[in-house]
Amino acid sequence: MITVRTVTEVREHVRAARAQGHTVALVPTMGAFHEGHLALMRRAREHADLVVVWLFVNPSQFNEAADLAAYPRDEGRDAALAAEEGVDVLFAPADGEVYPPGFKTQVNVTGLGDVLEGAHRPGHFTGVATVVLKMLNMVQPDVAVFGAKDAQQVAVVKRLVLDLDLPVRIEVVPIVREADGLALSSRNVHLDPDERRRATALHRALEAAASAADAGERDPVRLRAAAEAVLLEQDIEAEYVAVVDPDTFQPVAEVDGHVLVALAARVGATRLIDNITATSPETRFARQPAVLTTPKEA
Ligand code: PAJ
Repeated sequence: MITVRTVTEVREHVRAARAQGHTVALVPTMGAFHEGHLALMRRAREHADLVVVWLFVNPSQFNEAADLAAYPRDEGRDAALAAEEGVDVLFAPADGEVYPPGFKTQVNVTGLGDVLEGAHRPGHFTGVATVVLKMLNMVQPDVAVFGAKDAQQVAVVKRLVLDLDLPVRIEVVPIVREADGLALSSRNVHLDPDERRRATALHRALEAAASAADAGERDPVRLRAAAEAVLLEQDIEAEYVAVVDPDTFQPVAEVDGHVLVALAARVGATRLIDNITATSPETRFARQPAVLTTPKEA
């Protein structure tokens, strides 16, 4: 694996790969790699000949200076982990390479970028959409790989790609969790042992909402109440628990088909997010016959 710092260098690697008819995958990250990031790299490895990992702690998407300052950074460790996953190029640009002097452009995915995470973290998705468009233009990959952990980010990026005709395919990898359900996150290192234990309530809360949907509950208010009750057992007050359309992030009036239950909560001083897909029973039952008839037909 080679580490590069400039757009010129990364483009040279991409150009050489393309000259051989090779495909290119990009894995956007802010470093502090854990199994979630590594799962993205593995997916990229399966889909492309040249795997480029973007490592840049993007200041413009942090709405709290303290959060940016506390963000864990260890490029040496990250480089070793990426190399083990068979990554070809680690692209770790300096701030000035991404935001040259006089930088003035912002990308807003309106509506989608202003709700939930966007409402609680003003400017966050403008920072994300701007840096994602930049990295896609810098690297020009065939495929870019994102994690379902940041479901609203996925929706924003897919919208950006559609709206601006970007020639890239977006791959989404399911959430990687600890054995006790806690979604892996770079911020988990900030949890003390008691907070770490209480933080497992986030996934249990989402499962409670998904089970209610499973059992036929169609009222999003009741789904949210089921999740909030589990959080309160651990004295966790959610910033939001929302039942939304997974593409538009608008609240749904009724649970019909697949909906996304998304939440954000502070455990101690650490802000965590998580989500789950909840499915109404008809959708589940409707899918079963298709699966069952396949062996019969064969
Ligand atoms: P970062 O938080 O480093 O996350 C990089 C990618 O890893 C994202 O696509 C995220 O959804 C995914 N990821 C994180 N935890 C995961 C988990 N437990 N399971 C599966 N995937 C997980 O997201 C960003 O960086 C930035 O916003 C970025 C897109 C790089 C733009 O700066």
